[in-house]
Amino acid sequence: MRLYSGFIVNPLENTGGNVCVLEYIPEGAIVVGDYGQIEFVGTRIDALHEFEGVPEEAFGDAMILPGLVDTHVHLPQYEAAAIGTGELLDWLNTYIFPLEARFADEEYAHLRSQRFFYDAVRLGTTTMSVYCSSHRRATDIAFEAAFHAGLRVCMGKTMMDFGAPENILHSSEKNIADSLALAKAWSGAGSGRLLYTLTPRFAGSCSRELLKQTGEVARTEGFRIQTHLSENPAELRYIAELFPEHASYTDVYHAYGILTDKTIMAHSIYLSPQEKMLLKAHHCSIAHCPCSNRFLQSGVMALRQMLTEGFRIGLGTDVAGGPSLSVLNEAKEAAESSKTWNILHRGEEMPAISAEESLWLATLGGAQALGLDDIVGNFRVGKEADFIVCQPDEALPQHSSFQEPAQRLARLVYGASPNVVQKTVVQGKVVYAG
Ligand code: GUN
Ligand code: ZN
Repeated sequence: MRLYSGFIVNPLENTGGNVCVLEYIPEGAIVVGDYGQIEFVGTRIDALHEFEGVPEEAFGDAMILPGLVDTHVHLPQYEAAAIGTGELLDWLNTYIFPLEARFADEEYAHLRSQRFFYDAVRLGTTTMSVYCSSHRRATDIAFEAAFHAGLRVCMGKTMMDFGAPENILHSSEKNIADSLALAKAWSGAGSGRLLYTLTPRFAGSCSRELLKQTGEVARTEGFRIQTHLSENPAELRYIAELFPEHASYTDVYHAYGILTDKTIMAHSIYLSPQEKMLLKAHHCSIAHCPCSNRFLQSGVMALRQMLTEGFRIGLGTDVAGGPSLSVLNEAKEAAESSKTWNILHRGEEMPAISAEESLWLATLGGAQALGLDDIVGNFRVGKEADFIVCQPDEALPQHSSFQEPAQRLARLVYGASPNVVQKTVVQGKVVYAG
């Protein structure tokens, strides 16, 4: 058992809709049990009283926050972070598909997977929803790397059977068989930290047969699903040409059983009211990826509106669509892109997303979007101790006189840099110490 004292930042459960509130306990503490579970959340004084004799690790005025959750990221694309120009479909063909093909090489896959997870925990990420390459062996290797890095993943082999170079395509049967074998090997491993997610890339690289089989397996076996939806105008036209029999992009997924309460849709920028109704009716969640939406010039999602409409939303770095693996940086961009939306819609402005709300989305929001909020996402007795220690005063400018809790939090989000993260802990185990 261990007592961690510091400035506790605790995202509170929302009572539905648009409420993303943080609780601050400036001289606070959490107590973590021997199996990595949270035993106490409150003031340091009360913790010392109740847990007399338990060793204390004191972080002073550094912030102790729940671990960051990246709800959408592509492991094999990490090397290309910040590389490339142009929009989604050209960028995929020019930069991304050739890079993903390199994961046929096991040694390369091993090295790249290790680096990916090492950097993620360094940046304070404790949970990730990951797309691997389309190779079964490289996905195995990625699970091994996640196991050793100690963080929590929902992860899967990217399934594609057309619309990309031959060397990264597989038949729909092989895609499903490989996914089932990987799920059998890894689901629940690492004391429950590793989970399998069926990962059909998007309707632009999955045949009707593959989508259908994915929907069927998800239904019979209860899998999570992750895919892309409504990201870029040229992509929308491409999907409409490929699936003329369907009323909308969302309807394609609906027709094949892809919309479930364990489905997370990345992007979801250009949705009609009917599409939103479909997503809501099936309780799908959204991975909001504002950095990628800008880097690939895809668009600006109406975040405030989507929150008000009651969608479960987490943040996704979408590396390498987004140029950084930092979820704090993504939180900054979520706030800023909500202002960009206002600039583009003068007369219909909505309250901009604050740094506090962004941090809420980056933690409890992400956990909710991945269906993991009964385990992680905030500090509650009985949840697993996934947390980070951050010192906002390490962000430049240092020695700021703005020390109100919300101001410290804003400086943390806006000053996002690797130096602010001092420690990353998953299930009570230190996975990174700066
Ligand atoms: N749509 C289909 N594949 C991808 C991808 O790898 N990245 C992004 N951003 N969008 C996609
Ligand atoms: Zn993506």
